[in-house]
Amino acid sequence: MLRLCLLAATLSLAVGFPSFPWLWKTKSLPQLPRVVGGVEAEPGEFPFQVSLQKDGLFGRSHICGGSIIDEHHVLTAAHCIKGVNPGSMFAVLGEYDLSVETGTEQVIVATDLTIHEHYDGQTFTNDVGVLRLLATIIYSDTVQPIDLPEQMELLEGGELVLTTGWGTTVEGGSIPDILRKVEVPVVSDTDCRVSYGVTDIADHMICAGLPEGGKDACQGDSGGPLFANGTQYGIVSWGYGCARPNYPGVYTEVAYFVDWINNHL
Ligand code: ARG
Repeated sequence: MLRLCLLAATLSLAVGFPSFPWLWKTKSLPQLPRVVGGVEAEPGEFPFQVSLQKDGLFGRSHICGGSIIDEHHVLTAAHCIKGVNPGSMFAVLGEYDLSVETGTEQVIVATDLTIHEHYDGQTFTNDVGVLRLLATIIYSDTVQPIDLPEQMELLEGGELVLTTGWGTTVEGGSIPDILRKVEVPVVSDTDCRVSYGVTDIADHMICAGLPEGGKDACQGDSGGPLFANGTQYGIVSWGYGCARPNYPGVYTEVAYFVDWINNHL
């Protein structure tokens, strides 16, 4: 029986299970059994962090990250909301421990999901989308928007950035309950193309990670922010496995999409 379950789990990982983008939307071979190398955040440390949750057969579950950009909108990856019915998509704000309700959480259903018109699920180009929420977000100590950069305000290779989320910390692992953070340096497009190939890394992607690996976003972090000093420069998008040496995480580069985002609010 256990063997069957393992086989089923392996198969569902390999074949994909459409209701969990963090299980299937990854350009990767099976992942290495590697911890992603972050630490737990403090409660309220990242008040712009959103847990996107989808109603399914077994209740509501975390599928992706996101970030608050104004009182009605959450920024995320296109692959997180592609094909999803807005009425089954909820933004959970002020969340910290997924298993405990503390009273700081606001759960708001989406009314509209806007995906970039040139999003391509094969190449992960233009992996950006916006959720419009039914109710107005109430800002508090634990619920605040994040700033966007100026259009084309780019980071240089080597600059340190943080990424946060409830993504898995081990291969095929489950979603941790407590929000985690990890600091990684930006990898220039030139260096990132040495790893992934020239055609895989579009100008509007930004890579981040250590040459030796060990620190990265992973499945379930998608849609969440890559940021520095309260400004969001990236959206968790894809990677070859997670935290592998010479394969940095790849993020949608927000600076290329600021005008698009503002035009779709
Ligand atoms: N596509 C994944 C998701 O849906 C995120 C992958 C990020 N991978 C990485 N190695 N940084 O959650």
